[in-house]
Amino acid sequence: MLASPELAEGRRCVHFALTPSVAVELNERLMRLDKFVCKSTEYTKAEAVQLIHAGQLTVNGTAIMNEAAQVHENNTITLNGECLQAREFRYLLMHKSLGTICSNVDEGYPSLFNSLQIEKVSELHVAGRLDVDTTGLVLITDDGRWTFDIIRPLNNCQKVYRVGLSRELSEDLIEQFKKGLHLHGESQLARAAELQILAPKEARLTITEGRFHQVKRMFVAVGYRVVSLHREQIGEIALDVPLGEWRYLTNDEVQSFAAVI
Ligand code: URA
Repeated sequence: MLASPELAEGRRCVHFALTPSVAVELNERLMRLDKFVCKSTEYTKAEAVQLIHAGQLTVNGTAIMNEAAQVHENNTITLNGECLQAREFRYLLMHKSLGTICSNVDEGYPSLFNSLQIEKVSELHVAGRLDVDTTGLVLITDDGRWTFDIIRPLNNCQKVYRVGLSRELSEDLIEQFKKGLHLHGESQLARAAELQILAPKEARLTITEGRFHQVKRMFVAVGYRVVSLHREQIGEIALDVPLGEWRYLTNDEVQSFAAVI
């Protein structure tokens, strides 16, 4: 890890300078020092920043006074001499209900996080959001790197949706979705998608991207209107809990996205 030493308030202060791209290549887990303090103590972010500015944190034996310094999970980090251990990352799946939103706070509609009665819910985020009128599988975590693996297009992670349409589907749509559709306002065609017609007005669609309102816009591109949308699967993880409920992922499920890279 590269370090650029400098003096601050009479103390030696080190800014760790591993760039995000290098970190991704090395598959390392970096996080900001203030986040690490929050993840390893009961301090709030504001309290963590105060402690860091007061010079009470060391990383590998050096006082660090920059809350944005990137630290690695294997660094030795102490607070007033006591070694800190970050809590394990958490990984969950939830069956999102209609009329809930994926942000952490209510914004016109209730947040789906309201039904998660676990500690430090504010540290969690949804990996791949659904619209307020979409139901189904959402993955939830506090591990940003894991989210990145799921949502970055290079990983080709498959998302499977069950789609209700306002009128009858025609067979030639299968070919159109396979060729790649032009979405309004975008220069790049949407990637090839697999359309399976299940009933006159119902289909299953498998895509490997996550553009804004992607499924609805794909159907608009071929002259259809989506009237219901439900996510059944992401990668190898299929929805298996009742509406509104959630469970922790197994280790194998968590690892399944790394294998896609
Ligand atoms: N595509 C959409 O249009 N909406 C969703 O919620 C998910 C995918």
